[in-house]
Amino acid sequence: MSRFETRLKEAAERINTALDGLLPRDQGPESRLLSAMRYSALAGGKRLRPFFTLEVGRMFDADEGMLLRVASAIECVHTYSLIHDDLPCMDDDDLRRGRPTLHRQYDEATALLAGDALLTFAFELLAEPATHTDPQMRCKLILGLAKAAGALGMVAGQAADMAGADIGSDLIAVTRMNRLKTGALINFAVEAGAMVGCASEAEKTALMRYAHDVGLAFQMVDDLLDAEGVARDTGKAVGKDKDRGKVNFVTVLGADATRERIGMLANQAKAHLGLFGHRAHILTDAVDFIVQRRY
Ligand code: IPE
Ligand code: IPE
Ligand code: MG
Ligand code: MG
Ligand code: MG
Repeated sequence: MSRFETRLKEAAERINTALDGLLPRDQGPESRLLSAMRYSALAGGKRLRPFFTLEVGRMFDADEGMLLRVASAIECVHTYSLIHDDLPCMDDDDLRRGRPTLHRQYDEATALLAGDALLTFAFELLAEPATHTDPQMRCKLILGLAKAAGALGMVAGQAADMAGADIGSDLIAVTRMNRLKTGALINFAVEAGAMVGCASEAEKTALMRYAHDVGLAFQMVDDLLDAEGVARDTGKAVGKDKDRGKVNFVTVLGADATRERIGMLANQAKAHLGLFGHRAHILTDAVDFIVQRRY
């Protein structure tokens, strides 16, 4: 395991412990819904978005307890998006994070509701005073997450994804879709760390440029993994995007040109970190991980 993967694993463990403590216990009359939320939220996953929040916040010596709550909220939104993404009315997938998808393990209605509840829970977490002493900061975090996840953010991207070729099968359309469906939340994960850490405007700008390139490259690699990866590594079915008529980088550009663009974005993402010198080495390593990942 690389130095970066060890650090990612450590962050994932901290997030898992935080989520386990924060999510409602699965008992009482709602226990089926609550255990479904836990099934998906505690099922593993790379925890890359919360990793970004924690590591960026750490660069600015932000309070770890506050960062963990913000990072957990972001992971709840991500997990909800995967639960709904896997439903029969969307990508109709049976495997997620190496286990049966939530609607397979439970049922469709429970999966829909567990997704709803995780999305709502994220905002409950952010709104609670324990997340930040400054109520204005809590409002800013709520606003940022709402915008990233909502109808002009991730949900817009998912709608474009479902529209398939109707959005056009050119580079502009696919780039816009990926920026929204995946980039928006990754952007906010980085931004939230910078916000809680009270980064300067110049530092925030550099970090947002980094997140932009990383988010795009991340979804390109996801598209490549669908085309070339193996389910044993990815923990989800592969080889489905093309058959489903999805428009993505690989279907539009082909695998080689996609790889070329990933390389360009990776170099560009690292260049944006120049301002931070050695302080940002973990974010540089994250780029290499994202580009080379098999899962
Ligand atoms: C999968 O995200 C969905 C995309 C936005 C590409 P991840 O690859 O981060 O999934 P987990 O959280 O590690 O399972
Ligand atoms: C999902 O994209 C993006 C979101 C859930 C917002 P994909 O449909 O490509 O993700 P996977 O491949 O199922 O993880
Ligand atoms: Mg999808
Ligand atoms: Mg999918
Ligand atoms: Mg995919």
